[in-house]
Amino acid sequence: MKRSMRFDRSIIGQLLVGLALALLAWWLWRWQGRAWPTPTPLLQPRVAAGIAIALYAAFCGWIAWRGRTPRIVASVDGQSPWRVIYASQTGFALELAERTAQALRDAGQSASVHDINAIDLQALDGARCLFVASTTGEGDPPDHAMGFVKRVMAQPADLRSTHYAVLALGDSEYTQFCAFGRELDEWLRQHGAQPLFDRVDVDNADPAALRHWQHHIGVLSGSTDQPDWTTPRYERWTLRARRLLNPGSVGGEAWHIELQAPAGTASWQAGDIAEIGPRNAAADVATFLARHALDGSRIFQRDGEDMPLAELLSRSRLPAIADAVPNDARALVAALQALPHREYSIASLPADGSLHLLVRLMQRDDGTPGIGSGWLCRHAAIGDGIDLRIRSNPNFHAPSPTQPMILIGNGTGLAGLRAHLKARAAAGAHRNWLLFGERNAAADHLHGDELDAWQHSGMLERLDRVFSRDGHLQRYVQDALLANADTLRNWVDQGAAIYVCGSLEGMAPGVDAALNEILGPQRMTALADAGRYRRDVY
Ligand SMILES: Cc1cc2nc3c(=O)[nH]c(=O)nc-3n(C[C@H](O)[C@H](O)[C@H](O)COP(=O)(O)OP(=O)(O)OC[C@H]3O[C@@H](n4cnc5c(N)ncnc54)[C@H](O)[C@@H]3O)c2cc1C
Ligand SMILES: Cc1cc2nc3c(=O)[nH]c(=O)nc-3n(C[C@H](O)[C@H](O)[C@H](O)COP(=O)(O)O)c2cc1C
Repeated sequence: MKRSMRFDRSIIGQLLVGLALALLAWWLWRWQGRAWPTPTPLLQPRVAAGIAIALYAAFCGWIAWRGRTPRIVASVDGQSPWRVIYASQTGFALELAERTAQALRDAGQSASVHDINAIDLQALDGARCLFVASTTGEGDPPDHAMGFVKRVMAQPADLRSTHYAVLALGDSEYTQFCAFGRELDEWLRQHGAQPLFDRVDVDNADPAALRHWQHHIGVLSGSTDQPDWTTPRYERWTLRARRLLNPGSVGGEAWHIELQAPAGTASWQAGDIAEIGPRNAAADVATFLARHALDGSRIFQRDGEDMPLAELLSRSRLPAIADAVPNDARALVAALQALPHREYSIASLPADGSLHLLVRLMQRDDGTPGIGSGWLCRHAAIGDGIDLRIRSNPNFHAPSPTQPMILIGNGTGLAGLRAHLKARAAAGAHRNWLLFGERNAAADHLHGDELDAWQHSGMLERLDRVFSRDGHLQRYVQDALLANADTLRNWVDQGAAIYVCGSLEGMAPGVDAALNEILGPQRMTALADAGRYRRDVY
């Protein structure tokens, strides 16, 4: 691509030029018949006025043509390759960064994908950068981006020769929507970097926003005819088994769920995530159909797929009793909103023969179960199909088996840690220390027998279980960490990686504070930079 003209002149300037040309044409037209100072016929008043009008028409045409083209503020020479830089907590930004780079490569451009933490000011200088950045916690950067925030964003920078764009991933249900993507965009702008186009904010993987980004990438690479990126389709897995793990608990029910892959096998690794397409309870759908005298077998189309109304309703938010519902079934179908997907840490390995989840049944204030957990723990019957797709989550993939591993979690956070423990057992890696927190020892020994067996076999070198409601001094995992500070330092000195899985509220910040107290903020930053401090918290 050649360095092209800049289209960032102000609209006021453009209007003034147009007005001046129009006035000139009008004035020249009126001159006709009076004494004209030039002898050249070409410059007779009517001819000159015609030229001015033609210029004005061309100018208007240019404005209209400009309106049709995307607002590319600057395009740059084709020599410097594209750097696609991701900041991702649970893998989606990484996936989109890879798709972005692939789209550029498909269009014959050179593009490479980079972890934001591997980027410094030198790498940004004169580069063409496409940032794909998600937000986690409460408006926080992803864990692995903290090094970049502290090292790079905190220092003075001259980025005037950097061209960039930002795809900000987030969810508008959080108060600080796309906070990190916005912060990154602002920092780049403030330091003189030149936006290639306006930041694209993506609310909960909104396909329209993703198409918008894809369109810009197409324009930048000169290839706009690439197929839309679509979210990978769900596969139909089968609910094979379900077992309550904490009968009598004062907390919410925690269920062990086993799912069978459609083709018998599927591939994933410890740390990966299962995205579930929830359904409404069949009884709720039947009640809705009866209440509105609708025929559930009538076929409708959704996303290019034919399906009976009953099935369509099972995948959609059912209007509440108080809501106005269109009388006409077709209008009802058009107004239906698909249920959102839900994410669950995978708690097993393919070698187990099925995909395991550990799901807490969420209950709303009115006692009805949550959308995703209700479907998995209550409504789906054994043998039912479950819509599922696996998402790779490299941020939480395993450390080397030669490294010691400290696994810290609470409640259903045991899911992600369990997959890791299974992988460690399979790899013969025995230097594992699990710190696990729940409420009561009597009822909340989630997968207790399995953990005991691992401890007895020596696969778990150390196991600290902490119960917050049993009146002990160490109530939470962070208390257990502080009480074992010397041991923790020893393990980290020996190269241990720290993996945290579970509650974002309470546990994750508490553990982070305890680790900072024990190891110091500098060492924590270094551990995060080296990929030795990883979290899967929600
Ligand atoms: C990367 C990732 C991994 C996850 N892994 C697991 C896992 O292994 N096991 C698991 O059980 N869940 C896990 N979750 C959470 C899960 O995705 C759902 O958010 C959870 O099951 C609630 O969804 P729901 O549709 O059942 O409830 P909703 O219908 O969304 O909500 C029902 C009620 O529960 C409340 N609620 C929702 N989420 C929470 C929460 N986290 N804490 C407290 N109250 C809440 C809501 O405010 C509401 O009142 C994970 C989330 C992420 C992002
Ligand atoms: C624990 C958690 C916290 C989140 N916090 C925010 C937030 O504060 N603001 C926001 O806009 N999105 C937030 N999100 C939504 C994510 O940014 C969004 O799901 C994004 O697609 C995740 O991309 P990733 O997989 O690359 O991390 C949060 C998601 C999770 C799971």
